[in-house]
Amino acid sequence: MKTRITEMFGIEHPIIQGGMHYVGFAELAAAVSNAGGLGIITGLTQKSAGDLANEIAKCRDMTDKPFGVNLTFLPTLNPPDYPAYIKAIIEGGVKIVETAGRNPEPYLPYLKDAGIKVIHKCTSVRHSLKAEKIGCDAVSVDGFECGGHPGEDDVPNMILLPRAADELTIPFVSSGGMADARSLVASLAMGADGMNMGTRFIATKEAPVHDNVKQAIVAASELDTRLVMRPLRNTERVLNNAATERLLEKEASLGKDLKFEDIIKEVAGVYPKIMMEGEMDAGVWSCGMVAGLIHDVPTCKELIDGIMAEADALIRQRLEGMLAGKTAAAA
Ligand SMILES: Cc1cc2nc3c(=O)[nH]c(=O)nc-3n(C[C@H](O)[C@H](O)[C@H](O)COP(=O)(O)O)c2cc1C
Repeated sequence: MKTRITEMFGIEHPIIQGGMHYVGFAELAAAVSNAGGLGIITGLTQKSAGDLANEIAKCRDMTDKPFGVNLTFLPTLNPPDYPAYIKAIIEGGVKIVETAGRNPEPYLPYLKDAGIKVIHKCTSVRHSLKAEKIGCDAVSVDGFECGGHPGEDDVPNMILLPRAADELTIPFVSSGGMADARSLVASLAMGADGMNMGTRFIATKEAPVHDNVKQAIVAASELDTRLVMRPLRNTERVLNNAATERLLEKEASLGKDLKFEDIIKEVAGVYPKIMMEGEMDAGVWSCGMVAGLIHDVPTCKELIDGIMAEADALIRQRLEGMLAGKTAAAA
């Protein structure tokens, strides 16, 4: 399948693995890229720019296909050393960067001068238009369903994607709630040039996280995520667990007085315990509603090959069949 996204990134299939804290290591990024998608290393999971340089080199040893690095611009007073991370990306020869969080504008000139394509992740049409205006090459349009930070507008992808298609000139991929061939074909129908998946890629053989995490996703239904930190305007969609319930109780009892310090135990530094050690109640962790569509732990190649084969059948048989006047079974 050829789209503006496969052309822009030099990949075989229009499927991207979004950056994920303590999940997006070289092993997963390389597996996705080797399967013909675009794998992405999560920059800030690496504790220093030197560590990121090593992770990039490791990934390059594992694949000769294109892969990217995610740079999340955090809303914090003490930001990480972004210029050093960017230097590691440029010197590592990486040609694709997924930016997220705050406006990437201050750092774009460095990336563009190095010939890097930038795909910015946005949760609204206005931020997508801003990304286009400042010179991003593509956007990842992240709907309300998504695991992680859906923003504060709460617009699901059935509305957000066609709205983005109406307004944007640069290509975009759908993100949030994407799991299978139906997601891909629907995204293409709504104007996207591909799709980005997060939660789905955690439940794969190569994702270098504890098996408890994969099994928690397989066991979860679409009813099992919660939104936390809304009172702090830092909303995050997470899997429900003991820490999530405790955090929500604090939000309810403290109301407008809630401060970040009140919930440090539930949110700060919890990812290594969850992702590496499999302590599933150690804190809150991002997970999408799409968990309800995830029932297995395939390899990245099985997952991506399956999606592309089923997308072909969906388009050629179900959709074309309907046009030809045949009654099709449910997909
Ligand atoms: C465990 C987890 C960690 C994530 N960490 C990041 C991150 O560090 N930076 C980022 O830009 N997005 C992060 N995301 C968001 C994903 O890149 C992606 O946009 C999102 O998962 C898409 O929604 P889905 O989970 O429904 O596929 C994370 C998502 C998950 C599930």
